[in-house]
Amino acid sequence: MKNNNTIRTLGVLTSGGDAPGMNAAIRSVVRTSAYNNIKCFSIYKGYDGLINDTMSEVNARSVKDIINKGGTILQSARCDEFRSAKGREEAYNNLKKRNIDGLIVIGGDGTFTGATLLEKEHNFPVIGIPGTIDNDIFGTDYTIGYDTALNTVVDAIDKIRDTSTSHNRLFFVEVMGRNSGHIALNSGIAVGAVEILIPEEKLGLDKLLKTLERNKKTGKSSNIVVVAEGDTIGKNVFELAKYVEKKSPNYEIRVSVLGHIQRGGSPSCFDRVLASRMGVSAVEALIEGKSNLMTGILNNKIHLTSLTEAITQNKINENLIRVSNILAT
Ligand code: F6P
Repeated sequence: MKNNNTIRTLGVLTSGGDAPGMNAAIRSVVRTSAYNNIKCFSIYKGYDGLINDTMSEVNARSVKDIINKGGTILQSARCDEFRSAKGREEAYNNLKKRNIDGLIVIGGDGTFTGATLLEKEHNFPVIGIPGTIDNDIFGTDYTIGYDTALNTVVDAIDKIRDTSTSHNRLFFVEVMGRNSGHIALNSGIAVGAVEILIPEEKLGLDKLLKTLERNKKTGKSSNIVVVAEGDTIGKNVFELAKYVEKKSPNYEIRVSVLGHIQRGGSPSCFDRVLASRMGVSAVEALIEGKSNLMTGILNNKIHLTSLTEAITQNKINENLIRVSNILAT
């Protein structure tokens, strides 16, 4: 690709919650830069690294042996200082000091919010790559890490089902998704959950209790309810379980919170390929003089969406809710 604008040096960072495949995305950005004779700096600990000037120049060899690794070799952080204009000014000054003229940020909504402000206040070119297991970013069918996390969740719940069936128990399994139900909805369908509770849909306790009543009558022996962390039906999954136990004393209930095992592990093939494609596209977007955009994938084609749009729109698939309702009978 012809570099016909001013990008000579770029920086890359990961921010927010880590996600499997972030390393594959870093590798892709670094190697695509090298391919286009662009210098590349790794920035450590997300926006912290920009403010504290912890960056180092990297080359194609620096990112060997990382495509298969979970987490992020650049480390990540949620940086409070970057939320202030003063913090962002310090970050900008450090970028300029190193002659960095474009930034690629890999992360989720918080990461993109910071990037948008940096670009707005300092007219600094930024491109986002969606890296979060939550898949709660508009403008892309998939975020990096989501597929791996889903497979981890399905594997874990399949194991829980063994106990559920053997003991005839009802399990409430909490999966990640602070504000979103993508993991819950998709894993719930994949494990054959009887109900899936997500923040985007106000299901109501009554429907849940009715389903459980019906299942008791029809003799269902295993019952898994998948609950997104951000669901608001109960105060939390434990309170919810207590409430249901009181209302449906026929059920023996257990709660399982899957927690951070969902964020770790070697990325799936899908996530590695996705991250590799997005890294190439992000560098090419900067080369073409684009900014304030996120690289996503829609219908298997790379697609650029404004960062603001990426974080403000919801994309829960209503049809999946319908499918789950039909199949849970
Ligand atoms: O990565 C996104 C996410 O997994 C959310 O679903 C979850 O609420 C959050 O991160 C927890 O992250 P942390 O423990 O790093 O605060």
